[in-house]
Amino acid sequence: MVWIKKECAVLPSEITDERVFNGRRRFIQAAGIISSVSMAPQIFAGTRDTGKVLRYDGKVDHSQIPPGWLVKKLNAAKPGVYSTNEQATPYEYITQYNNFYEFGSDKGDPAANGKDFNSDPWSVVISGEAEITGKIALEDILKPHDLEERIYRLRCVEAWSMVVPWIGFPLADLIKRFKPTSDAKFVRFETLYDPKQMPGQRSRFTSIDYPYVEGLRIDEAVNELAFIAVGVYGNSLPPQNGAPLRLVIPWKYGFKSIKSIAKITFTKKRPRTTWEKAGPREYGFYANVNPEVDHPRWSQATERRLPSSLFSPNRIETIAFNGYGPQVAYLYADMDLKRYF
Ligand code: MTE
Repeated sequence: MVWIKKECAVLPSEITDERVFNGRRRFIQAAGIISSVSMAPQIFAGTRDTGKVLRYDGKVDHSQIPPGWLVKKLNAAKPGVYSTNEQATPYEYITQYNNFYEFGSDKGDPAANGKDFNSDPWSVVISGEAEITGKIALEDILKPHDLEERIYRLRCVEAWSMVVPWIGFPLADLIKRFKPTSDAKFVRFETLYDPKQMPGQRSRFTSIDYPYVEGLRIDEAVNELAFIAVGVYGNSLPPQNGAPLRLVIPWKYGFKSIKSIAKITFTKKRPRTTWEKAGPREYGFYANVNPEVDHPRWSQATERRLPSSLFSPNRIETIAFNGYGPQVAYLYADMDLKRYF
C-alpha cells in the first residue's frame, strides 16, 4: 500500500475500466496528464461525457439522469492531490456490491431496489450549534465548491475493501460555511427517511434503526481527508452508492461513510450512531480501521480486496487507519484505541 500526496498524484490513467468509463480518456487528455497529449487544451468543462449514469454493464441508466448543473460541475472536476496509486476497483463491483440497508441487506439489494430512487430535488437541513442553519437545496450546497477526484481505499468492517475514485469536495469547506459555534463538539449526519422509497425502512426484519445516523468529532470532520462525494468514476453517484451526496471517511470503517445525507447537526454531545446502537460491543463510535482490534466475531488483521473469489481471495494485510495514519493519527494521540474502538 502506498500513500501519496503530491501534485497531480491522482494518476487517472490507472483506472482501466474503459468499458464503463469512456469519457475519462478525454478528461485525462484535457488535463494534460498524459505527457504525449500535454498540448491538449486546458479546458475541462464540456470535455467529458458525464451527463449520464452508467450501469455496471456499461449501458446508460436512463432512470438516473443528473440535473444539468451537476453535470457541469462533474465535467469541471479536477484531479485532487489526495489519492492512492493503487488500482481502482472495477465500476461493476463498486456499484453492485453494496451496503445500504435502506434498500435491503444483501449486497445486490441496493442496486436492484434503489434503481428508481428519486434524489432530485434534494435538500439538506442544517441545525444545532452553528450561526447559519436552515434547509438548503443541493445546488446551493454545492455551488461554492469546485469538485475534485480522490481515489481512496474503502475498508468495510466486514473485512473486504475496495479502491474508489470519488468526485466531491472537502467536508471541512462545507462545515466552515455554517460557522459552527464553540459549543459544536460533534457533527451528526442523518440519511433521508422515506419508507415509501426505501423498502429496508419499512421492513419488519430490519436489524438497525432508521433514519441511519453517523457522527464525527468536529476535529475529525475538518480533517483534510474527510470528503463529501457527489460522484464516482466520473459520473454522479448512483442510488446504491448514496446519491446525491454522502460522506467518505477513508481512515474509518465504511459504516461511518453515511449515504444520502438529508440532515447535518452540530451538537455539544456525542451523537448515538446507528451501528453503535445496534451492537455496542461490535461497532464503536470511532471505528478507526485497526488491525489490532478484532471484531468479536472475526479478525481485522487482513481484508479481501475486491475483486476476490473463493479460489483467488486476494487477501491483504490491513493497515492501521487504513494507511492514512500520517494524516490522521494526531487526532487520537492521547487515546487508548483498544478502548475507544
Ligand atoms: N449509509 C446508510 N445510510 N445506510 C447503510 O446501510 N452502509 C455503510 C456505509 N453507509 C450504509 C451507509 C457501510 S457498512 C459501508 S461498508 C458503506 O456505506 C458502503 O459503501 P458503498 O456501498 O458505496 O461501497
